[in-house]
Amino acid sequence: MNATMNTERLGADTAGVARAAEILRAGGLVSFPTETVYGLGGDATNDRAVARIYEAKGRPSFNPLIVHLPSIDAVEEYAVLEGPARDLAQAFWPGPLTLVLPLKSNSGLSHLVSAGLSTVAIRVPEHPLARRLLEEVARPIAAPSANPSGRISPSTADHVVEGLGGRIEAVLDGGGCAVGLESTIVGVDPTPVLLRPVLLRPGGLPLEALEAAIGEPLARHQEGESITAPGQLSSHYAPNAPMRLNAESVVEGERLLGFGPVEAAVNLSPSGDLVEAAANLFAMLHQLDHDGGSPIAVSPIPDHGLGRAINDRLRRAAAPRD
Ligand code: TXA
Ligand code: MG
Repeated sequence: MNATMNTERLGADTAGVARAAEILRAGGLVSFPTETVYGLGGDATNDRAVARIYEAKGRPSFNPLIVHLPSIDAVEEYAVLEGPARDLAQAFWPGPLTLVLPLKSNSGLSHLVSAGLSTVAIRVPEHPLARRLLEEVARPIAAPSANPSGRISPSTADHVVEGLGGRIEAVLDGGGCAVGLESTIVGVDPTPVLLRPVLLRPGGLPLEALEAAIGEPLARHQEGESITAPGQLSSHYAPNAPMRLNAESVVEGERLLGFGPVEAAVNLSPSGDLVEAAANLFAMLHQLDHDGGSPIAVSPIPDHGLGRAINDRLRRAAAPRD
């Protein structure tokens, strides 16, 4: 971000919620309270808004984000909610539970929200102000915890302003968070026929409550499973075609994924804007994948700001696969 913006502090009233919804619909960033911690919200269907979330947090990599929705009914538009996932949703939503579910095609969600994966993390929060905001904005809202990367999660609006003031448009002040700990994340693996729930992150919803609801011990994540645990995302989105990074020029047969003023079939940002490049990254990798299998050369991307996260993902996508 170039200029420091003035972060608006919005009250927990009708006017505050309306203003927050207006900013979010326009692609701005608003921190809002949930019962777990304050989230750093942006329109999950807007690639640029999602890219700005990573930029504001200063995250060095694109960890997938949680999509917040106002009701179970709204979830079905974006993800497959079947079997034990549906049971867990009915038992604990709204509440401090996040479910990682198979992403529906044509969901309209930004590829960046799920970091290009075929699953998406969804949560229906219980906090009344979060629910009012989600209903009013009527769009899925991507929100990681509203702290700069590497700092502790915020449980008051003051914490948010200390960490992110000047980097986001507004914070909706709903006082303290009752739970104060991030949501429990459960993945429902889409590949085995069993649709077995797996604990991905312990959190504000106790494991005992989850196990009582499903009637058996919850499986822990195991390496190699198609749903990956937070922080150890071993399977990243990668195109089928081989990739070559830091390509100053293309060799015959290659397609160029460009950055900056270069002649390229597909260009992350002709003007060299890292926010734009991040917003386009996963959608363009998917597009190149869809268009064919010839090798992809990628222009050099500056390794600062969002460029670090872009390079991190490109390196993983280009790494030898087994
Ligand atoms: O309580 C919470 O969960 C807060 C509030 C704001 O909702 N949000 C939060 O978000 O803690 P965040 O981004 O800090 O943590 C989300 C975690 C990340 O560690 C990410 O790796 C994991 O969820 N995650 C998201 N999508 C995933 C997916 N498709 N597969 C596996 N893990 C996923
Ligand atoms: Mg966090």
